[in-house]
Amino acid sequence: MAQSKQQQNLLDKITAVSKRRGFVFQSSEIYGGINGFWDFGPVGAQLKRNIRDYWWNTLVRNGHVGPDGQKFDIVGLDASIIMSTRVWEASGHTTSFSDPMVDCRKCKQRFRADLLPETKCPSGGDHDYTEVRDFNLMFKTHVGPIQDDASVAYLRPETAQAIFVQYQNVLTVSRTKVPFGIAQIGKAFRNEINPRNFIFRSREFEQMELEFFVKPGEEDKWHRWWLDQRLNFYSELGIDRDKLSIEWHPENKLAHYAKACADIMFDFPFGCQELEGIASRTDYDLRQHANHSGKITPYFDADTNERYHPYVVEPSAGLDRTVLALLCNAYTEEVLTNAKGEEETRIVMKFHPRVAPVTVAVFPLLRNRPELVEKAETVFQLLQPHFRVQWDDRGNVGKRYRYQDELGTPYCVTVDFDTIGQGELKAAEETVTIRDRDTMEQIRLPISELIGWLKEHIGV
Ligand code: GAP
Repeated sequence: MAQSKQQQNLLDKITAVSKRRGFVFQSSEIYGGINGFWDFGPVGAQLKRNIRDYWWNTLVRNGHVGPDGQKFDIVGLDASIIMSTRVWEASGHTTSFSDPMVDCRKCKQRFRADLLPETKCPSGGDHDYTEVRDFNLMFKTHVGPIQDDASVAYLRPETAQAIFVQYQNVLTVSRTKVPFGIAQIGKAFRNEINPRNFIFRSREFEQMELEFFVKPGEEDKWHRWWLDQRLNFYSELGIDRDKLSIEWHPENKLAHYAKACADIMFDFPFGCQELEGIASRTDYDLRQHANHSGKITPYFDADTNERYHPYVVEPSAGLDRTVLALLCNAYTEEVLTNAKGEEETRIVMKFHPRVAPVTVAVFPLLRNRPELVEKAETVFQLLQPHFRVQWDDRGNVGKRYRYQDELGTPYCVTVDFDTIGQGELKAAEETVTIRDRDTMEQIRLPISELIGWLKEHIGV
């Protein structure tokens, strides 16, 4: 799909603020970068961690309550990235995890055949494409000192397969029963033909995957239920509901293992695109691994005395894509009139406090007044055990607010002369100023009430 100038502009602005404030840097930037790989800077790493932790902490626990009031558990797994090649033979990735690819004979570039560029060939005129070929997306490497066919291994292209491969061990040790889930967060690698749209499609990325095992015949009910749960998750991260939508895959476009699949879509600047796929995977994977390994036995359902391989509902989310969705959702420009009567643009990252990399910034009004600095340090120490706190004493307070706006910090606390009883207030109780990122309004509050007030407003 062609992007309008305005859409490209918006993505460029989000990319610029990401670099300027340390959300995302190009990988190996000082050596010219490497296409399809990205590094998360200080605030980006924190944002990513906050999403990752929220996903894990809300999912991995005992005693969830399902659609009909039934209790169930979700347990965690942290598997290796490189696994036996037999895993990928059994799952079908060795033969069919590929994208259709063409080369242009003129400019020598390679493209995905289903996403051909609308631009002219840089060598003039139209591109001159070769026949379509399949290109396997798995990264190949060798394990051990001898590089031959026997030592070939692959970097996992999804975290899901390790869950199927360890399903029986996990079931045994966790003493749980169907329905139950196994969750995993980790890196996945795909040698994408055309990585693009900033961190949307990259070659190294992180997935947050849940394989949820249900009794055959109950998968449709669970599929719909998980779709609702997963939509709620994105709302709880602060994504506007009207930027989210659901797209069901038509039957003729389903992956070979799926009986149904719905994607949660986000309205990115480059169009509505998949954030998370929720597939109804039947017992395909467990059966494949049971047949190839001979080690997975059918589950015995003690309630019904039946034996079966459970069916799987798989909510599979991309962590990097969720970061990008949050950056796009948060990015706001506001035109303000400054004290000189001139118009200026305020850029604000309106993150939900749950995921904001910094939740409270603490400033002494002036850095060269030890009495202010000392008191501000006390406030900083007071807040640090409770929030993600940042200290800032550079420049004037107005500049610090603008900087924190671009980090998306919901609240800034300033210690000024009134705090230390030298200003107009001379109150018996020491007070500080709290400035709200979104309304830019300021209120004064006694230091003794600060933690409670912030907890209530930040929602932790
Ligand atoms: N186990 C199922 C699975 O891997 P998928 O739709 O291929 O399904 C799931 O991937 C999610 O992983 C996607 O919805 C997306 O968020 C993320 N993802 C996939 N490929 C990606 C890439 N090249 N770059 C970034 N994220 C990617």
